[in-house]
Amino acid sequence: MSPTVLMNRSTLFLALALLVGCQPETAPEATHPLAGLDTLAAASLEQAVAQYRAMDETLPDTLFPRTINPDGTLRTNTSEWWTSGFFPGSLWYLYEFTGNDDLKTRALARTAAVEPESRNASDHDIGFKVYNSFGNALRLTGDTTNIPVLLTAAQTLTTRFDPAVGAIRSWGAHPDTTSPYLVIIDNMMNLELLFWATRHSSDSSYYHLALAHADTTLANHFRPDGSSYHVLEYDPLTGAVLKKRTAQGYADSSSWARGQAWGLYGYTMTYRETGLARYLDQANAIAQFLLNHPDLPEDKVPYWDLNAPDIPDALRDASAAAITASALLELSGFVDEPQRTFYLDNAATMLRTLSTSAYRAVPGTNHNFLLQHGVGHLPADSEVDVPLSYADYYYIEGLLRAREMLADATQ
Ligand code: GLY
Repeated sequence: MSPTVLMNRSTLFLALALLVGCQPETAPEATHPLAGLDTLAAASLEQAVAQYRAMDETLPDTLFPRTINPDGTLRTNTSEWWTSGFFPGSLWYLYEFTGNDDLKTRALARTAAVEPESRNASDHDIGFKVYNSFGNALRLTGDTTNIPVLLTAAQTLTTRFDPAVGAIRSWGAHPDTTSPYLVIIDNMMNLELLFWATRHSSDSSYYHLALAHADTTLANHFRPDGSSYHVLEYDPLTGAVLKKRTAQGYADSSSWARGQAWGLYGYTMTYRETGLARYLDQANAIAQFLLNHPDLPEDKVPYWDLNAPDIPDALRDASAAAITASALLELSGFVDEPQRTFYLDNAATMLRTLSTSAYRAVPGTNHNFLLQHGVGHLPADSEVDVPLSYADYYYIEGLLRAREMLADATQ
C-alpha cells in the first residue's frame, strides 16, 4: 500500500503545515551572507561621490591624491608614482555606480593624465597605473581609443621580463646584470593588464609571459602554510633565488598583510583569466592562511603585519582589508560550500568594519579620502596610519562587487 493512501485528513493537514513551516520566512536575499550590504554600500557610495567630487576639485588634473602628511596636509603625486591609477579608477567606479556624466568627465580628465605611464618602463607598476584608469575607461565607455594606450602599456611591461628569471622585474633598472633581480608579490596585480592584452591582440606572448611570472612566483614566493615573502632576489644571469626577504613588512620571515592581499587578489584574478587549477589552489591556500590566522581580529581588519611584534596594539591596515575583501568576493564564485560562505562571511565583515566610523571618514574630513588607518611603509616610517588612495579604490570595488552579487542572487 502506498504511503499516500495511508494519509488521512489530519495527517494531510500536519504534512501541509510542516511543508509551510519549511518555507523560508524571509526573502532569499535576506539569508545571503552579504545580506544588508547593498543598503550599506549604497549609502557609503553616495557619500563617496560627494567626497571624491570635492577631492577632484581640490587638485589640478596632473596631481593625484596619495595620502595625508604627518603635518596634516594632503600629499599628492604626479602620474609616475605607482598609485596614480587609483584616483581615476575610483572615479570610474563611482561613475559606474551613478551613471552620472559629471563623474565621467572627471574620470576622463584624470585618466588622460596617466597616459605617459603607458611608456614608462622604470618599474613594474604599469598595470596598477594604466589598467585601473584606461582599463576601466574602456570597460565603461566602450571607447576604443583606450585600446592603443592599454596595448602600449602591456608592451612596456613586457620589456621588464627576463626569460632567465621567468618573471617581470619589479624594482630597479632593467636590464641590469650587476644588481639582484627584484620581484615582489605585489607584481601579481600587473598581470591583469597582460591578460587583457592577450584578448585584445593576436599576440599570445602576453599570455605566456604572464603565466611564466605567475608560475615563478608560485614556485618561490610562498611558504608551505600559504603565506608569502614580500621580495625575492634572483640572480639576473641564472635566475637562481638569492634571497627571500621583506621591504615593507616587519621581518623577512613575517607575513606583511598587504602582500598577502596582493597575492590573494593576484592568484584569484589569474585563475579567472586562465582557468588553471594551480592558481585557484594558491588563492585558496592564501585565503585559508589569512582567514584562519590566530591573530586576525574578529572585525577582520588585519594588523599591518600578521606577525607584528606589538599585537594586539599593532596598527591595522585598512588597505589590506579592502583588497582582501574584494578578492574574497571574487574567489567565493570559484569554490563550493562551505568555502563559499566562509569567504563571503569574512568579506562581508571586512566591508562592514571598514564602513563603521572607526575607518570610514565622514564627508568634509580626512581630505576627502574615504578610509582612515592604512599603513603604507611602516619600516620606512612612511605613510603610517593614514588614508591611502588604493585602500579607497578596493573598498569601492568591494562594495560594488557585493551589490552586484546580491542583485544576481535575487534574480
Ligand atoms: N608596492 C605597493 C604597496 O605598497 O603595496
